Amino acid sequence: MHIGLSINGSRHELEVEPRRTLADALREDVGLTGTHLGCEHGVCGACTVLVDGTPVRACLMLAVQADGTSVTTVEGLAPEGGALHPLQQAFTEHHGLQCGFCTPGMLLTALDLLHREPRPCRERIREELSGNICRCTGYLGIVDAVEAAAVEMAGETSCRDA
Ligand code: FES
Ligand code: FES
Repeated sequence: MHIGLSINGSRHELEVEPRRTLADALREDVGLTGTHLGCEHGVCGACTVLVDGTPVRACLMLAVQADGTSVTTVEGLAPEGGALHPLQQAFTEHHGLQCGFCTPGMLLTALDLLHREPRPCRERIREELSGNICRCTGYLGIVDAVEAAAVEMAGETSCRDA
C-alpha cells in the first residue's frame, strides 16, 4: 500500500505491506533506527514516537494507520550537528541514561508531558513515565532530568501539577 506522511518535518512516500508496523517502517524503510524495539508487544515503551503530537507505541501501530500524519522520532529532537534538545541535554547531565535503550521512548513521552504540562511536579513525571521501562537507571536520574528540562524550558522553578 502507498502511504505519505511527514517524519521529523520531511515528507516521505512509502510502499508498505498492510501488516507492516510503524516501527519497522521507520527503522527499516526510512532508516531511523533511533526508534528502538524491545518487547514488540506494547509493554516496554522503547518504541514510543509522537504521531500528530500524541505518544504511540510504534510496535503496535500499523504504518498504514500513520498515512497522512506527522510523526516525530528521537532523530527529530535536535538538528543534525546542532545543539541537543533541552531534554536530551538534561538526560546527559543528570544521569538519565546508561545503556540508552529506553531513552528515545523516555524522551518522547517526556516531551509530550512538557508540551501539555510545562512544569509538572515529580509525582506527575513519575506517573507519565510509568509506561516506559528502564532496566538500568533506577529511574531517579530520569525524573531528575525531566524536572531539570522543565525548569529550563518553562523558566519556572516552582512546579505546578495540572
Ligand atoms: Fe513497543 Fe515495547 S517495543 S512497547
Ligand atoms: Fe538502559 Fe534505560 S538506560 S534501559
